[in-house]
Amino acid sequence: MSSLDKVKRPANEAYSLPPACYRDARIFTLEQEHLFAGGWIGFGRADDFEHPGDYVALTVADTPLVAILGTDREIRVFANTCRHRGMRLLPDGRGQTRQLACPFHGWCYALDGRLTAAPRMESATHFDMSEFGLVAVSSAVRAGFVFAHIGSESMPIDDWLGNFEMLHAPWRLADMKTASRREFTVSCNWKLFIEVFNEYYHLRKVHPRTLSGFYRDPDPPDHSSGAFISQFGEHAKDVSVGVLGTDAPPLPTLPGLSGRLRNGTRYTWVYPNLSFAASRDAVWMLETVPLAPARTAVRLSLLFDPSALAAEGFERTLDRYQERMRIAMDEDIAVLEAQQIGMSSRLAQPGRICAALEPSVHEFHAWYANQLIRWGVAID
Ligand code: FES
Ligand SMILES: [Fe+2]
Repeated sequence: MSSLDKVKRPANEAYSLPPACYRDARIFTLEQEHLFAGGWIGFGRADDFEHPGDYVALTVADTPLVAILGTDREIRVFANTCRHRGMRLLPDGRGQTRQLACPFHGWCYALDGRLTAAPRMESATHFDMSEFGLVAVSSAVRAGFVFAHIGSESMPIDDWLGNFEMLHAPWRLADMKTASRREFTVSCNWKLFIEVFNEYYHLRKVHPRTLSGFYRDPDPPDHSSGAFISQFGEHAKDVSVGVLGTDAPPLPTLPGLSGRLRNGTRYTWVYPNLSFAASRDAVWMLETVPLAPARTAVRLSLLFDPSALAAEGFERTLDRYQERMRIAMDEDIAVLEAQQIGMSSRLAQPGRICAALEPSVHEFHAWYANQLIRWGVAID
């Protein structure tokens, strides 16, 4: 039986992904091509775009992209590449602009991508400006998340997401507001970074003072008809897992939650790069952009119910939620960077999965193994 077939066995019999998947340059290139340039990728939240001209520029799979809000309040995603001679229009980051002006020779584009100015180009015959708008990239907003699809193959977003929106309906994610954003890079493979976020096995060893003891054993992962996994788990005590200490009460429970959902957290991973924890009072959202097999850019956002943001003293509340996230994230990163070093050893071998506490990781591994097989990758 090949290593990939062993990954695909039921969780209690399954092996983890072969270490090559986390370090091999050829596999990294295939991922970039098929998953990041060929799938739907998370591109922030719709509320990142408040006023016309608000933009987010981001390079994914060596493809500079820019998402920008038009005067018609539609979020569009374009190739961040000038149609004259290919200059990148905006450096990666977020900002506000009235138009997209190329710093090289001055071609200008409207917020809807139309080319509106091309100095001295009357010297070119049969030059039709309407043919030189920015290259549009498919995009969609679902549950408040912005998704972009670079590939030319048509793949409807709703086929990619399957029952994602239905499963998350009680959290009313579309209404939630982004209160903070942080960006950083980590020296590990992008898959390791999201895997640790979606398993409970490491809590006792890695988060003994911060998270261990907050959670019961989770439910089995939910049925997913899309390219995602999701697993709900109840909290062990009737507390928020978003704040440490008891010096001040946590935020109220989200208004759409009832029954068991009122005291738990749903961890979800939308393949390839978006993962979030929808808890009873807040949502932690992670988006990864692979930079190299062992280097990953991470964008971390904290989302809250709009009523929480409007409440008096929210800044102090936010500080407490951020502090708890920072501590837990630092604990994870120390482990992940050491995991990458161990995984990069020529002596590293696939291990076994803990079916009780790592079933989401297993489901991702099985999905990923199928992708490798589809790409023609064979690993003994
Ligand atoms: S490359 Fe943009 S105007 Fe020349
Ligand atoms: Fe963790």
